Amino acid sequence: MAIPDSFIQELLNRVDVVDVIDASVPLKKAGANYSACCPFHNEKTPSFTVSPTKQFYHCFGCGAHGTALGFLMEYQGLGFVDAVHELAKRVGMTVPQETRVIDKVAEQAALGMQEALHMALGYYRAELKKSERAINYLKGRGLSGEIAARFQIGYAPSGWQNLASVIKDYQSESLGVAGLVITNEQGRRYDRFRDRIMFPIHDQKGQVIGFGGRVLGGEGDDSGPKYLNSPETPLFQKGHELYGLFLARRAIREAGKVLVVEGYMDVVALAQHGVGYAVATLGTATTPYHITKLMRQTDNIVFCFDGDAAGRKAAWRAAINSLPALTDGLRLSFLFLPPEHDPDSYIREFGKDGFEAALKETQPLSQYVVQTLSSANDMQSHEGRVRFLNDVEPILKQIQAPALSLLLRKRCAELAGVSQAELESLMNLAQPAVRRKSAPARSSRKPPTLVRRLIQMILLRPHLALQLDASMVPGNGAEDEVFGHLIRLASESPSLATSALLQSLRGNVPESLMAEISAEVMEVDDAFEIEDEFEGAMKQLRDSLKQRELAVVLRIAQEQGLQALTQEQKMLLQQFRRGAVQGSEQNKV
Ligand code: UTP
Ligand code: MN
Repeated sequence: MAIPDSFIQELLNRVDVVDVIDASVPLKKAGANYSACCPFHNEKTPSFTVSPTKQFYHCFGCGAHGTALGFLMEYQGLGFVDAVHELAKRVGMTVPQETRVIDKVAEQAALGMQEALHMALGYYRAELKKSERAINYLKGRGLSGEIAARFQIGYAPSGWQNLASVIKDYQSESLGVAGLVITNEQGRRYDRFRDRIMFPIHDQKGQVIGFGGRVLGGEGDDSGPKYLNSPETPLFQKGHELYGLFLARRAIREAGKVLVVEGYMDVVALAQHGVGYAVATLGTATTPYHITKLMRQTDNIVFCFDGDAAGRKAAWRAAINSLPALTDGLRLSFLFLPPEHDPDSYIREFGKDGFEAALKETQPLSQYVVQTLSSANDMQSHEGRVRFLNDVEPILKQIQAPALSLLLRKRCAELAGVSQAELESLMNLAQPAVRRKSAPARSSRKPPTLVRRLIQMILLRPHLALQLDASMVPGNGAEDEVFGHLIRLASESPSLATSALLQSLRGNVPESLMAEISAEVMEVDDAFEIEDEFEGAMKQLRDSLKQRELAVVLRIAQEQGLQALTQEQKMLLQQFRRGAVQGSEQNKV
């Protein structure tokens, strides 16, 4: 659903980015700005800077940057729409209702789904209190009442249409869409979850979006699959969600790491024993979405899968799926439990201390990958080493993190008995990219180009755009595109705030360029006489545009003669001959 830009602008005008950030990351005054240790990467000296006048933040360490809205999205892992609602709530604004009919229907359906899930959750929790059998099952697995309450565990009793007793309209569309009821071929509806322990799955805001239901029996129970999960719905996508993440947030920050396990019960049992920083994938492989989502919370991810063959397979898939999301600042490692254990049984046997002692022995991703592949091939024979190289090639090609990529190439070359250069040419590997995410260090940055300076000035004083128009964009590179975009936006609404302009650029501009621009704007002194500087820059811009035109005029005159020129072009040529316009083409914009 689309929220009008004007509302976003108004919202950004109304909130104070300093308050919004300070509520989660305590800020200290530092000159004109505020600063803190960056919540998005690990650091000891603060390079995270928040400007109260420009209303945005920028981290000079990792390049993270954005407005109050961007902060909520990054820090709380909210989507754009959720972040808008959250921010609006804080300042008491009402997000305008979408008027397009189609969106209204979708929104109402989502609302209906949410409501249905919420009512089902209440029902399952109440039923747990009534069922001695279910309570005993949970007790038998070592869970206390507090933990069951914390995870909102419930019980779906046996019977086919129990939900009809709590949800008035059992025939309603949203019950089906939410995955709570199934319709058979005869058109009869019945509850999906029957006689199961219910684990609600929460989204980032703590709202229930789906369930996992476990049979009460042991391995031999034949009442369907051991765990039954909600189907994929508009609210619930297994490849994106992680069980327990909402509840684990705080513990993840405190521990400085997150543990990724396979099962619902692993998460709950770990929490029961004081390890609150675990989350589980939902019966699917770990996806790059999962990794990206977790990277918003911490830069230390530990996978701890079951010790059995299936667990090892899951670990390998997690490793492979993580490759594209890797960054040099991220620590990704694996904890391998003995084959007879899963995290649940391990912590029950060895306690929190035993578990955390095991956590000290994790294997870093790169080591795990190289070791697995080198032990799968006979590294003593030529053929084995060739196969090893074949195996590592796709892996090396997927890694974007420069330092990691470099080290892995070195290591693989060593193992295969070739030089790094040989390995790179064999595999056609490009030189590892220079730091992607981070903004370049302040001192090493090149002096900004004219267009770049104009972009900064418009961002800081949008009304200046009224003196410009689209025809004054000198080139067609990425910077020029940003420039043109800003001229349009700012001359349409010259009273826009810097933050609103930055917000609307996001997504339309390559992220690396956005990070550079953000850093530059953050560094400009507010008291600085931008209007004066703008005069000078405008003169340079006009001159360079004239030079560009002059080059065209000279070429036409040369190729087709003076008669081919328009009146204006002739005048320009005369000015040039009188020396009023410099003709140097090198002196480019
Ligand atoms: P496991 O079979 O390892 O179960 O499945 P577990 O976590 O050890 O469960 P307990 O200890 O017997 O209760 C791990 C995860 O795989 C998914 C579930 O998400 C489960 O938590 N799974 C498993 C299913 O979705 N369906 C199944 O039938 C089994
Ligand atoms: Mn288990």
